[in-house]
Amino acid sequence: PESITVQELANRMAEKGADLVKALFKMGTAVTLNQPIDQDTAELLVEEFGHRIQRVSDADVEIGMQGEADAPETLQPRAPVVTIMGHVDHGKTSLLDALRGTNVVSGESGGITQHIGAYQIKTKGGDLITFLDTPGHEAFSEMRARGANVTDIVILVVAADDGLMPQTIEAINHTKAAGVPMIVAINKCDKPDANPQKVRERLLEHEVIVEDMGGETQDVEVSALKRQGLDALIDKILLQSELLELTANPDRAAEGNVIEAQLDKGRGAVATVLVRRGTLKVGDTFVIGAESGKVRAMINDKGQQVKQAGPSTPVEVLGLSGVPMAGDQLTVVENEARAREVAAYRQEQATKKRTTAAPTSFEHMFSALN
Ligand code: GTP
Ligand code: MG
Repeated sequence: PESITVQELANRMAEKGADLVKALFKMGTAVTLNQPIDQDTAELLVEEFGHRIQRVSDADVEIGMQGEADAPETLQPRAPVVTIMGHVDHGKTSLLDALRGTNVVSGESGGITQHIGAYQIKTKGGDLITFLDTPGHEAFSEMRARGANVTDIVILVVAADDGLMPQTIEAINHTKAAGVPMIVAINKCDKPDANPQKVRERLLEHEVIVEDMGGETQDVEVSALKRQGLDALIDKILLQSELLELTANPDRAAEGNVIEAQLDKGRGAVATVLVRRGTLKVGDTFVIGAESGKVRAMINDKGQQVKQAGPSTPVEVLGLSGVPMAGDQLTVVENEARAREVAAYRQEQATKKRTTAAPTSFEHMFSALN
């Protein structure tokens, strides 16, 4: 029988996973994001959110199947995906640099992050952790939302001298909406005017209650500059990740999410993809959003060419027919004809969505006026 996890269904409906969990709870079903639900329940939920159910033709059934849950015996542990969020200049990239032993900040234009960077580190204990860096500037709100949606854990970076600022609060809201656990990294604790206790108190106002205050949110004082508190931060990430029991089936056709994509002068359309399950291999034929392609080459976060990428691995993919949109899904399919078929179907869906959106909002306007 077909089933789909709550998170997968949320992705396909472009809704927040947490909202689906809430709706299900109201319908009398208590489930978590990674649990599968049956088709009837899924259909009810789709209607509940006002989406039309697409009765699918033969050709489309398989597209619908991409949400199918893997059999429990195929699941293997995977690295946590950790997104770093927080207000501009609070030290997100510096913290990642400290963790990775790199210096990305100095290469950034004006020291401002303008895209999502995806990296993987290996801890001293040999555990892998995937990190997504996000920009703190207010203009990049959508990227923070996107980051929150593909992540297992959010690290909220708050500068101890500056305290809670608008994008700190926005990041808290994105994290809550995505229904993912948060670890607070109170950064710049080396500064003379650092006041970590004040940060903890201000967090209370936003219902983020750290352990010291009787809550369950983990927090850690760090200094990216002096490289202090980093091991404690890693430990907390690993602890949180253990609680989540993160798994994926690595032995299947790959599925993933586009973190970002652009047209590169020399290399053509390039997408940074975070593999969610399965293993993406050079030569694989895929659909990515409304584009299709064949993996010509893959480059990891260290700039090295790789032949394959398993669950939780971020990788740059070359060989796309065009530039997909950030947030799009990558799905490996059996052949090029199939890829074109699915891409065409998705293109059609996207067009339909655009043309049907307007009348609904007009109706809405009129009924609101009456
Ligand atoms: P955006 O990506 O633009 O949102 O900024 P960011 O949060 O990534 O901040 P970034 O890492 O670029 O750091 C901003 C400034 O704070 C830089 O000048 C860093 O050197 C400084 N900084 C970062 N961490 C620390 C720290 O622990 N202590 C001190 N004293 N300065 C820090
Ligand atoms: Mg940055």
